[in-house]
Amino acid sequence: MANILDGKKISQVMREEITQETAAFIKETGITPCLAAILVGEDPASQVYVRNKEIACGKVGIKSQLFRLPGQTTQEELLELVGKLNKEETVHGILVQLPLPKQICEQAILDSIAEDKDVDAFHPANVGKILQGRPRFLPCTPAGIQEMLMRYEIPTSGKHVVVLGRSEIVGKPMAAMMVQKAVGADATVTVCHSRTQNLSSVTRLGDILIVAIGRANFVTAEMVKPGAVVVDVGINRTEDGLVGDVDFASVQEVASAITPVPGGVGPLTITMLLKNTLKAAQQRVGMK
Ligand code: GUN
Repeated sequence: MANILDGKKISQVMREEITQETAAFIKETGITPCLAAILVGEDPASQVYVRNKEIACGKVGIKSQLFRLPGQTTQEELLELVGKLNKEETVHGILVQLPLPKQICEQAILDSIAEDKDVDAFHPANVGKILQGRPRFLPCTPAGIQEMLMRYEIPTSGKHVVVLGRSEIVGKPMAAMMVQKAVGADATVTVCHSRTQNLSSVTRLGDILIVAIGRANFVTAEMVKPGAVVVDVGINRTEDGLVGDVDFASVQEVASAITPVPGGVGPLTITMLLKNTLKAAQQRVGMK
């Protein structure tokens, strides 16, 4: 039976570290790190995510400001708000919750966020820096996964990491991070996706299999190399409640370690957002 990789527990430890580092930063500089989050429209999942981010900020001593805009907000109106926050001295991190309503071009908005406040690391300049191995911020979900692997002392150097899914938020940056010549990386990386031929033969190559394909229970035991570490990024609402992209029941029989859903990658994503917001404030005053 696989070891359970407990993201909640790691998250708690990390949030205590961030609380202490935030308090020390405030004491030294008199500046309280502040995250501005923008939520456009009424998407229920986004409401929950943004609320959780606010609560998490408060608990570690980071200030948060939530901007709620109606679903009919135009791209120009949203650009104007981002522009204002870019210039606002007291705001260190800006997060625009995705997805955005269809009248707004997401890329145009992400492109407009000040690079040094881009705590999601979605701005093309920050994506480029990640690819070059000199990140300003690491994207929250991939960074959380890397942190979990390191804290569980799961070796990655020379290992074959297979990433299933090629999203801008998880798959692509995850692959870019794991291939770097760096601690917690140094892997041989394969990216596969919904169009990959003979998908099982590819996923079975993974010593570490990271799944972010967005389909409930998609990865079954036959797709996993015996003894592999399986990381499940999926959050799918089904009749059976929240399930991941990995069929947990069958895969835990063949994997050596596996993340549960919920309680795996999810809590770490918000934790890394807190870390990035603190880092943004530290960078502003010339630290880090
Ligand atoms: N929507 C789903 N995941 C994310 C995320 O990591 N950041 C933002 N801003 N929106 C999201």
